[in-house]
Order: sequence, then structure tokens, then C-alpha cells
Amino acid sequence: MSPSVITVETKENFSQNLVIDQTASKLSLQGRIRVPGDKSISHRALMLGAIAQGHTQIQGLLLGEDPCSTASCFQAMGAEISPLDAELVQVKGIGLGNLQEPVDVLNAGNSGTTIRLMLGLLASHPGRFFTITGDSSLRSRPMSRVVKPLQQMGAEIWGRKDSSLAPLAVQGQNLKPIHYHSPIASAQVKSCILLAGLMTEGKTTVTEPALSRDHSERMLKAFGAKLDIDAETNSVTINGPAQLIGQTVIVPGDISSAAFWLVAGAIVPGSDLVIENIGVNPTRTGILEALAMMGADIERENEREVAGEPVADLRVRSCRLQGCTIAGEIIPRLIDEIPILAVAAVFAEGTTVIKDAAELRVKESDRIAVMARQLNKMGAQVTELPDGMEITGGTSLIGTDVDSYTDHRIAMSLAIAALNATGITNIHRAEAAAVSYPNFIPTLQQICS
Ligand code: S3P
Repeated sequence: MSPSVITVETKENFSQNLVIDQTASKLSLQGRIRVPGDKSISHRALMLGAIAQGHTQIQGLLLGEDPCSTASCFQAMGAEISPLDAELVQVKGIGLGNLQEPVDVLNAGNSGTTIRLMLGLLASHPGRFFTITGDSSLRSRPMSRVVKPLQQMGAEIWGRKDSSLAPLAVQGQNLKPIHYHSPIASAQVKSCILLAGLMTEGKTTVTEPALSRDHSERMLKAFGAKLDIDAETNSVTINGPAQLIGQTVIVPGDISSAAFWLVAGAIVPGSDLVIENIGVNPTRTGILEALAMMGADIERENEREVAGEPVADLRVRSCRLQGCTIAGEIIPRLIDEIPILAVAAVFAEGTTVIKDAAELRVKESDRIAVMARQLNKMGAQVTELPDGMEITGGTSLIGTDVDSYTDHRIAMSLAIAALNATGITNIHRAEAAAVSYPNFIPTLQQICS
């Protein structure tokens, strides 16, 4: 018996097939690995660095396609950003209110965080005109969740379908403060309004139904903005206009990327993996709680705080998993990890129910429909629910042709499922992984060798 064979086939149109051949495999995953920098923190470090006064140093930036989109948008509006490098990126901020009118359309690529957060900044730059677009996935994702509250603040934004779809055009204005009660727990909505509040005279407040990731709040405070946080009502208030001063940001490893190895280590028999230097901000650790509910053996080692964010090494050893119910307030704290949790559930005993996660339908793809269809093609028993999935565990998976639908998290989740499948799995359009994890395939090859 030999380890699995993992190869990449590049097609004429540059799309890639990731082929995972388990025909003769006796695989167990061992070793210590690192994952790239946190995507959410990387976006915010570039944005706040660009609009702050003075210099910002970013260590550990994610070099994925999404942060590259953010960097090029802010460069187009006058920020000086050194070539992106995971060691160190230097940003020379232009000062609050000084984003220049770009001479061309801003392109957010595949990145919802780039377009939604940036809209708050653009809308609050009086007298300047901006247009912004993205790839075909982003152009089909709902923007009204940020456009509507910005319009309540006095923003002028135009776009298709009643300004709900990119491309969008923005004529910057002096905005007025509001108290926005968001119907969804979304860090992108919360952050967009807070960024619009930076330049707005008075108190801008966002209240959300459950707590979403709080990286914006932490980083805005570190850059000098005055924020009041009411944990009981999940409300954040920013007092504008703010003053932001450049800082040093140290970006921890992305728990959303670590999640693939946590599940791989849990489901591949005989595995023992340590994933080093992972951000364990409590608004992001829903995945650890969900895997604990399923009985996974995961320990936190070397817990510490780095530049205002909690960090730990995570050790995972394989063991039997049990189905469970994942619903309610935990959902925003693991929203990006649901595709890989679905893979864990396929290999767990009993039934796993995931509910209250309708947001998955408007991510980079409809992650409920795509995961259900692709896993079922491999022999799983996944039933789509309007707001989640019901997964009957314990069926064995058989390798076949599956597709990422150009969604990075789907590509990587299917690769982990393939490690525990028999035969050959051929994941089409696997290059999508580079959106958040450019080194995913080499790391997969390394730990499987
Ligand atoms: C993100 C917030 C989440 C998440 C996305 C990144 C962020 O989206 O799914 O990948 O960096 O603010 P929502 O806030 O829309 O849930």
C-alpha cells in the first residue's frame, strides 16, 4: 500500500483539475503545518492602513486573490502599498477622507468583503465618484444589504435591480449618522456601516441579531477610533469623525483555512496534525465548538495574544465522530466552515442537521446546493434544507468527477472528502482555492506524502 497520489492537471483554458487517487492508499496525516494569514484581518489591515495617517506595517498578510483585489482598489485611489509579501507589507496611508477618485472602474474580483466594506468608505467621500464591479459570482451576490442602510445615511448609489447588484456607481456624500438594526448577523454589513461612520459627524450604531466576527471593531480601536460596544445587545457605536493612525498589524493564520486540516485530521484514521499559529478569536471559533460537539479530539496548545487577537496552535488526532445539530447563534461564528463541516458529518455516525444558515445560499456559490450535490455524487446522503442540510453519516464515499463551481471553500472541502473516499476523485476548477489559500494543493501533497 502507498500514500495517495495527488496531481494537478491544467487545462487549455487554465482551469485546473485536482486528481486525488486513493486506489492504493493507506493514508494518515502527520506533521506540523502553517496556514496563510487570516483573510478577514488581511482585508481590514490593508483598508485601514490605506485610509489612516502615517505608515502601517502588515506581517503575515494573506497573499490570496481576495486581498490582492483590496490592495489594487486602494492603490487605484492613491494609497501606496508595497508589493504584497507575507513577511512584510508597508502601507503609506493617505489620511481619512482622502481617497482619490479612481480613473477607472474598481474591481473587487471574487471578494464580497472588498466590495461591501469599501462601499461604506466610498459613499462617505463627498464630491467624488466611484464605480465598482467584480467577477461573475460577485456580480450576482446581494448588495442591498449594505446599499439600503447606506442610503438611509444619505448615500447615493446606483446599480442594476434597484441598486442591489454590482456594477455599482457611487457619488460620495456627507452622510448622517443612523442606528441600523441589521436583519442579518453579517460582519460585512456591520463593518460597512462602521466604516461609513468614520467620516460621519455623530454616533453611528449597528445592532445585529447575533454576534458576527469582530475584527473591524478590534482593528478600528487599535488604529485610534472611538468605539462603544454593548455586548448585551450586540451593538457597536462609532463616534465620528474619527482619527486613524497607522499601526503594526500581525495577521494570525486563518482558522477558516485551518478548518480543512482539522477535519482532515479528524476523519483520516491514524492522523496526528498540529496546525500552528491560528487565530482563535471567539467570534471565529464556532468550528472548534461544532467539532467538539461531534466528539473530535482537538487541543489548543501555546495559547497567546498577538497584536490584539488570540492565537493558538491546534492539535488534531483522528477519532470517531458523532452527528449533531448546528444551529442558532453559533452559525455566524462558523459560517465559512459549513462546507467542510458537512464533510465531517458525512464521516460521522448518525445524523447531522445544519440550520439557520440560509446565508450560505448567497456566498461565492450556493454552498447548500453545491455541497449537497457534489457530496451526493460521491455517495453521501445529504438532503438540502432551505436554510441548511441534513446529513446521514456513515456512508462510504467513492471517488468521481466533482466541481468546485469556482468556489474556493467548495474546492478544498471536496479535496478533504476525497482523502477518505475510495478510488479516484477528480475535482474540476480546483484553482479556485487560490482565492483564500494559494498553497492549499502543495500543503495537501506535503502532508499526504
Ligand atoms: C467576512 C464576513 C463573512 C464571511 C466572509 C468574510 C468578513 O461574511 O462569510 O468570508 O471578512 O467580514 P458575512 O459578513 O456576509 O456573513
